[in-house]
Amino acid sequence: MAGGSAEIPGHVIPVRDSVMAQEQLTLKAYAKVNLTLEVIGKRDDGYHNVATILQTVDLADRVVITEADELAVECDELSLSGESNLAWNAAAMLAERAEVVPRAHIRIDKGIPVASGLGGGSADAAATLVGLNRLWGLGLTGGELAKVAAGLGSDVPFLLNGGTALGLGRGDEITPLTSLPATDVLLVVPAESIEAKTPTMYRALRPGDFSDGGRTQAMARELDGRRLTSAICCNAFERAAPEIFPGLAGVWERVAHVTEHPPRLSGAGPSFYCMPSSESERIRVAESLRGTSAAAYLVQTVSPQGESGA
Ligand code: C5P
Repeated sequence: MAGGSAEIPGHVIPVRDSVMAQEQLTLKAYAKVNLTLEVIGKRDDGYHNVATILQTVDLADRVVITEADELAVECDELSLSGESNLAWNAAAMLAERAEVVPRAHIRIDKGIPVASGLGGGSADAAATLVGLNRLWGLGLTGGELAKVAAGLGSDVPFLLNGGTALGLGRGDEITPLTSLPATDVLLVVPAESIEAKTPTMYRALRPGDFSDGGRTQAMARELDGRRLTSAICCNAFERAAPEIFPGLAGVWERVAHVTEHPPRLSGAGPSFYCMPSSESERIRVAESLRGTSAAAYLVQTVSPQGESGA
């Protein structure tokens, strides 16, 4: 039986090891928001270069990995069970990299809204890599796991460790930053979904939506563990998002009307967030959402285990 939770550094935290006939690991896979997301330009490989500051928050999926004879992925969102889940690809790619047979049962209980810009699927894939590296006794380093993670999606390398980090390249080149102090974040998730959301959002960008990454670089220099407000956050998809998600503008306007600082989109949307500075601001936001089909989650920024910002 592998040891306790302290053995896995970083952000995907095993919360339970049971002494059973089959070894089992339970991991928390945290959601992320993008504090900044600047799109710099299109690359030859079809991706875009971005500059982004990523931050994990304590809204999580639960990933339970158990020894098994073959690979299986089971999810409480039934449409996400089986081979369509990014966690399946994570297990398959890790097994290929390590030249082992992929044997594990992966159970995912969703707490993060699906396809909302909060990185839920990527977080589950990251948790799967961390958990299987341990369950299969592979001993891959963080850097080796990050290479596998980058093959799964641009957000997956960051979510191996979470916290506060700068993402460059296609978002997969991660530099950890000093953790923010625990900060309240109010996530608003409009009930909007479209097929192939992320590529659609990138295609919707116009020249004026691109920028040079300077705001992100400045925030990376200046943040240094300081408390922040959404006023200095930014997101290149904010102009295009209401065109692509027809119900977004109405919800956004309601929230923007009652907050001190403007809300910010997370990732390619449709989720957005604000950082209310008082109880009365939180209540105003909650009341502004009455009668809409948007969900709201009051969460806090979260840092890797053992760091002071946690
Ligand atoms: O990396 P991920 O699988 O999340 O990307 C999904 C799609 O989003 C890519 O196939 C690409 O069309 C687009 N994308 C992009 N530039 C990025 C990240 C994603 O164009 N930096």
